[in-house]
Amino acid sequence: MNHAGMLALVKKRKRPVEAGAQGQVEVKFKEVTLYLVERKMGSSRRNFLTSLARSKGFRVEDVLSDDVTHVVAEDNQAEVLWAWLMGHGLRDVSRVAVLDISWFTDSMREGRPVRVETRHCIQDVMEELAESSEFNQSKGPCLAFRQAASVLKSLPSAVHCLEAIQGLPCLGEHTKAVMEEILTFGRSFKVEEIRCDERYQALKLFTSVFGVGPKTAEKWYRRGLRSLQEILTEPNIQLNRMQRAGFLYYSDISKAVSKAEAKALGCIIEETVHWIAPDAILALTGGFRRGKEYGHDVDFLLTMPEMGKEEGLLLHVIDRLKDQGILLYCEYQGSTFDVSKLPSCRFEDMDCFQKCFLILRLEQGQVAGERGLQRDPGDSRGWRAVRVDLVAPPVDRYAFALLGWTGSKQFGRDLRTFAQKERLMLLDNHALYDKTKKLCLLATTEEDIFAHLGLEYVEPWQRNA
Ligand code: CTP
Ligand code: MN
Ligand code: MN
Repeated sequence: MNHAGMLALVKKRKRPVEAGAQGQVEVKFKEVTLYLVERKMGSSRRNFLTSLARSKGFRVEDVLSDDVTHVVAEDNQAEVLWAWLMGHGLRDVSRVAVLDISWFTDSMREGRPVRVETRHCIQDVMEELAESSEFNQSKGPCLAFRQAASVLKSLPSAVHCLEAIQGLPCLGEHTKAVMEEILTFGRSFKVEEIRCDERYQALKLFTSVFGVGPKTAEKWYRRGLRSLQEILTEPNIQLNRMQRAGFLYYSDISKAVSKAEAKALGCIIEETVHWIAPDAILALTGGFRRGKEYGHDVDFLLTMPEMGKEEGLLLHVIDRLKDQGILLYCEYQGSTFDVSKLPSCRFEDMDCFQKCFLILRLEQGQVAGERGLQRDPGDSRGWRAVRVDLVAPPVDRYAFALLGWTGSKQFGRDLRTFAQKERLMLLDNHALYDKTKKLCLLATTEEDIFAHLGLEYVEPWQRNA
């Protein structure tokens, strides 16, 4: 071999090593570990982005492992990506933030991991279709797509061909047609059509405001309004209190809440609740109890060990939060719970416990890892608004409420369907009713409920799909 040939070989051999190890300066951001998905991105771009990130102090793993906190992909369909992720045997995929390249680009520009926002999340095609059906008030297809989204996420390995999904439960014709498009063309035309649809875009935007439901969104759309700015400047629009708060804190509450922020809020709520009632029982519920890294709010359940003592508890908590100067918004709903009306036939409805939907002020200094750190250079006010939900059932309903409020929504739906179809039982956030025995079954823990249903206990972090 001649000299030039040798050189070429050396270069060729050397390149992957260069791209891998070089450029890693000291890891500055210990809480994030990135993994870049090569699919669609290509290996050279991936190598380039890897070096770039490492040079900026990010830790980037070459292989996917349980250490990875942020998976970044470019031009990937959510379903295919999820299926691919599932095939890696990670301990818990739901803990990983699966993000679009836009999050990576924003982070590189800022030179630090930026806060995850909804626009950074890889869109889930089935969720989008479900949402679009919801806007069209087509309940059937909406549920079908939601179910499909969850079935596809729970698949053990990658979906490579349509045959593989033919036999799956809960996948209807619409869903299969969409999957076929994705598997054949790498994209879904139906979804792209929806994404470009002006009405869908407007309704999605409007319903992203706290307090705005599909009906209000539709009304605004029909009036020809298309942007949030137009709504705020339209003189004839009357916003209710909740919507006013939604607009006022829009930029804060549309940003994802991190686990560290949820923990900080947990401390505040705990301190507040126990200041009022030292023996109160408090639990974190919702997505954070399922181990999620990010959420749209933080959910808590509280009760008193003695029946009836929980009455008025939430109002005291609210007062105390107000005294601390951190209550930005509060929507309180008193209890309409009536044991004599159990079981309710309308099991899909909201529960009747006393609850409140809050917006709280969280000081940056109270969040671990952000103490004394200026995370957002453009934002010097040092606090953010966070959505918090509190629910206070009587203690004998606690286990049912905990199960219901831990979610996920789809897990709850599946569990209720199972109870009804397989066990002739009605399950909701209040009770488990045995139709055969014609009585409500007692439960003090979630384990009791699973046992009544003849199921093995499912840990909260296994309830994401
Ligand atoms: N839930 C409920 N009754 C309500 C509101 C919510 O039973 N009136 C349940 C939902 O079914 C969900 C759980 O409470 O399973 C938490 O709701 P939510 O905060 O909306 O969802 P999370 O799973 O926590 O997701 P996120 O991280 O986006 O908040
Ligand atoms: Mn939540
Ligand atoms: Mn909630």
